[in-house]
Amino acid sequence: MINVTIDGVSGSGKTSIAKGIAKVLKYHYLDTGAIYRGIACYYNFLKFPEPDKKVVDKFVKNLQIDIKFIKNTQHVIINGIDFSESLRLEENSMLAAILSPFHKIRTKVLLIQKAFSLKYNCVIEGRNIGTEVLPEAQVKFFIVADEKVRAKRRLKQLKHKNDNIDFLDVLEDIKSRDYMDENRNEAALKPANDSIIIDTTALTTKKAVKLCVDIIKKKLQINDL
Ligand code: DC
Repeated sequence: MINVTIDGVSGSGKTSIAKGIAKVLKYHYLDTGAIYRGIACYYNFLKFPEPDKKVVDKFVKNLQIDIKFIKNTQHVIINGIDFSESLRLEENSMLAAILSPFHKIRTKVLLIQKAFSLKYNCVIEGRNIGTEVLPEAQVKFFIVADEKVRAKRRLKQLKHKNDNIDFLDVLEDIKSRDYMDENRNEAALKPANDSIIIDTTALTTKKAVKLCVDIIKKKLQINDL
């Protein structure tokens, strides 16, 4: 199977780029952040106490993760409950960031990611896909962009929901998420040695997708699509 990995900093546009590449190449697309978010939803649903190693080990014991594609949309189903509608709620985003570094959780998610990569030609998007999940992937991208540009993009998305959001708060949030992602003990965010770095500071999604698809075609010697 052909595996393309897309890792990168938050707000860099990696989700849109990954989806765009998958659409052009007619590959499957897997959003791995959504799996961590789904786990956080279930943790909140069960009202588990403040996470520490002991509590998380107990939580993981009976954790059943299923990914389904319904009308081309990825659904995350944890222990039979479809959490797809709640994945992006703030409380679940925060908890996903807290739970995702726990080793036992990463090991569970690793199995899902590996199985997907073996079953489909796919584009898999996350934080450590090129480095740890699929080090053998044929093409790896690491997406970056200037932090102020990322904050502007995020502000635009958030303004749709709430007009009272301040640019400097969003910028601070981006900086602290970068710090957490890059400095955690498990699966710290960094490019693989063979990642191709794509800087989207001055690129539209369309241009970034084209750039990546051209690189993939060249690397895999695909002439026609
Ligand atoms: O990409 P996202 O914001 O949906 O990710 C949600 C959380 O999961 C975020 O805190 C980073 C974490 N994550 C991870 O640790 N490893 C991945 N492969 C993907 C996401």
